[in-house]
Amino acid sequence: MHLTRLALTDFRSYTEAVLSLEPGVSTLLGPNGQGKTNLVEAAAYVSTLGSHRVATDAPLVRSGAERAILRAAVTSGDRDSLVEIEINPGRANRARLNRAPVSRPRQVLGVLRAVLFAPEDLALVKGDPDQRRRFLDDLLVASAPRYAGVRADYERVLRQRTALLKSLRARPGRAARRSQPQRSRPRRSRPRRGQPRRGGPARGAPGGPGGRDAGCLGRAPGDGRS
Ligand SMILES: Nc1ncnc2c1ncn2[C@@H]1O[C@H](COP(=O)(O)OP(=O)(O)OP(=O)(O)O)[C@@H](O)[C@H]1O
Ligand SMILES: [Mg+2]
Repeated sequence: MHLTRLALTDFRSYTEAVLSLEPGVSTLLGPNGQGKTNLVEAAAYVSTLGSHRVATDAPLVRSGAERAILRAAVTSGDRDSLVEIEINPGRANRARLNRAPVSRPRQVLGVLRAVLFAPEDLALVKGDPDQRRRFLDDLLVASAPRYAGVRADYERVLRQRTALLKSLRARPGRAARRSQPQRSRPRRSRPRRGQPRRGGPARGAPGGPGGRDAGCLGRAPGDGRS
């Protein structure tokens, strides 16, 4: 697989930029702040639909511009593909594959498969578990793009759960009243510590609810990904 051409419009510091890349190693040289990492970030965005530096799309759009557009020509074996992504902060992003619009941008995942290593990756070792989980999720989607849909569904449900918990916390009286009938039900014996809960792994175990090192696509409650 070879990224042969990368074109940026209103992405980060670039109004317009076109980068042609030969097979083999390419090195970007330039003074600090000239936009080298911005180019690498653009290529990685085409690969993952996300940035390694920021959690939202807004900082990726050049200051003063409404949207950014990335175009990437990719050669894989004897096949040429063109991926185009329009980044619209606050609105849905759009994408085209070989000039045909796709219904969801994630349908272009897998066309460009890239691995980015950046200073920020030190967070994998030094940072919180959610960064390691995100890395594993990214890795899963990079190796099997069909999981992008599963991940999107999971993150939507997680947001819904967080919103529900917040709304219950905001109305403690109602939440307490709702929980009363449950208390009057016959109590089941609690699973012993470390034993699997019914229908899932033990709380605190890898992949289980509340596990600090919950596995791929697992999240500890309130780990800030809502
Ligand atoms: N949304 C944006 N709009 C306009 N300019 C931006 C935007 N985001 C970043 N920049 C500019 O991009 C520049 C940083 O680019 P980048 O991080 O690619 O530099 P670099 O060449 O990698 O530098 P270094 O050698 O220090 O790593 C800064 O001048 C910053 O102001
Ligand atoms: Mg840099």
